[in-house]
Amino acid sequence: MTYRHWSFLITLGLLPLFAAAEPGPNRQAELDTLLYQDCGSCHGMTLRGGLGPSLLPERMERYSAEAITGIILYGVPGTAMPGWSDLLTEEDAAWIAEQLKHDNSTLR
Ligand code: HEC
Repeated sequence: MTYRHWSFLITLGLLPLFAAAEPGPNRQAELDTLLYQDCGSCHGMTLRGGLGPSLLPERMERYSAEAITGIILYGVPGTAMPGWSDLLTEEDAAWIAEQLKHDNSTLR
């Protein structure tokens, strides 16, 4: 078997790691609260912008969900936007990113 075949098999083996399940309903409710309370402290209580820019879908549609997830986890270096990787898992951040892109929140 060539090197390429092996790397293909390894990639397949890793796929489940990236397809991790989304947070459960209780965690989703916690994340929704965090979004409006913690993120909202800078991005505005209704996420329309404050110290940080609006997080509404009109603005978020220009970013991929992956890009937003990265911003949430690691912040924007050199700005007031902090990274949240101490508090949020990758699945948490990915879920929030989806909410921001599709405006699914029950709190608005
Ligand atoms: C301490 C203030 C602060 C908090 C808290 C904060 N942010 Fe930010 N955020 C900012 C600032 C300032 C920017 C703009 C950074 C820049 O100049 O590029 C930003 C940028 C962003 C961006 C990129 C927006 C864009 O269009 O450039 C996203 C997405 C984002 N924040 C999401 C979040 C989320 C989700 C949370 C909560 C988990 C959060 N932020 C909490 C200050 C904050």
